[in-house]
Amino acid sequence: MESAFEPTLQNIIAQKSLKWIFVGGKGGVGKTTTSSSVAVEMSKHRDNVLIISTDPAHNLSDAFDQKFTNQPTQVKGFNNLYCMEIDAQSSAEQNKFFSSLGLQGEESQGTMSFMKEFMSSVPGIDEATSFGEVLNSLDNYNFDVIIFDTAPTGHTLRLLNFPNILDKALLKMIQMKEKFGGMLNQFGTMLGGGQTNGEDFQKKLFDSLDGMKSKIVEINKQFKDPEKTTFIAVCIPEFLSLYETERLAIELAKYEIDIHNIVINQVCFPEKETPCRKCIARRKMQDKYITQIKEIYDDFHLIINPQLDEEVRGIEKLKEYGRLLFEGYVHDK
Ligand SMILES: Nc1ncnc2c1ncn2[C@@H]1O[C@H](COP(=O)(O)OP(=O)(O)O)[C@@H](O)[C@H]1O
Ligand SMILES: [Mg+2]
Ligand SMILES: [Zn+2]
Repeated sequence: MESAFEPTLQNIIAQKSLKWIFVGGKGGVGKTTTSSSVAVEMSKHRDNVLIISTDPAHNLSDAFDQKFTNQPTQVKGFNNLYCMEIDAQSSAEQNKFFSSLGLQGEESQGTMSFMKEFMSSVPGIDEATSFGEVLNSLDNYNFDVIIFDTAPTGHTLRLLNFPNILDKALLKMIQMKEKFGGMLNQFGTMLGGGQTNGEDFQKKLFDSLDGMKSKIVEINKQFKDPEKTTFIAVCIPEFLSLYETERLAIELAKYEIDIHNIVINQVCFPEKETPCRKCIARRKMQDKYITQIKEIYDDFHLIINPQLDEEVRGIEKLKEYGRLLFEGYVHDK
């Protein structure tokens, strides 16, 4: 019996209100390839598309065969498709936050060690502020849809906890103000240039964190809105990957994030005329897991994607791969 849910990603295109698309799964299953192909396809249907890699093991550059940075960069051959690669824990992202506060890295030891101490006293604040900076920078653009090529499971949903982390940071600031109020002006003398005093700086830091928090809260609201946000899981039909997908689905449900598409990648299709024993055996093993996926996710779009003969690299290959995802694979060999 055919499922009522079309086995393609067409539903993503059809859902015009979608603004945020997350693509995730275990390492090596095809997240980057899938998210890149989705981005390429979406660029045909939307005015302005951005794909962001948040996986520290970036490979958007490999998939597109073009170098990217931590700023939105236009993909060659497209006028409405942009890529950026961010590593929220890297010093490059951290520096964006520091310079947004007017810190140039030339300040006295005192200021920097104060900031470092503040940053290290709130676990996760580095990532949260990096993400806040990324969101702030997106205000300068007009993207209709933003696709996230996420890091392997576990890492992915940390960003949903950022409002809590920023709350902790704000609390920390208030505590510091109460505790060290008298020392604020002393602290001011530590700032280079002398244009600002310690109290001004603390206010700036507080306002910046507070602003980020409002923004992240607002975005998180969008993430929980199935009209605006969906998550595409990518897996391969093997025990561990299936297990990861279930964990992911449970986690997403906890955070109230919609998921209704699973790409089952690297499915083996034995040659029709001359199937070899190895491929037949492999497919039999895979079918066991595909059957399980179909049972568990009976109200999902399940996209069976074949194991291709070559790696998927460059725009043309991404387009071909995208055709498989959006139109479905016809096995006619
Ligand atoms: N269906 C497929 N057939 C053949 N190669 C694939 C397929 N899907 C992905 N690949 C290749 O497998 C490698 C890993 O895919 P990638 O998308 O980078 O995985 P991830 O981002 O999940 O780590 C890449 O070299 C990619 O080109
Ligand atoms: Mg990847
Ligand atoms: Zn074979």
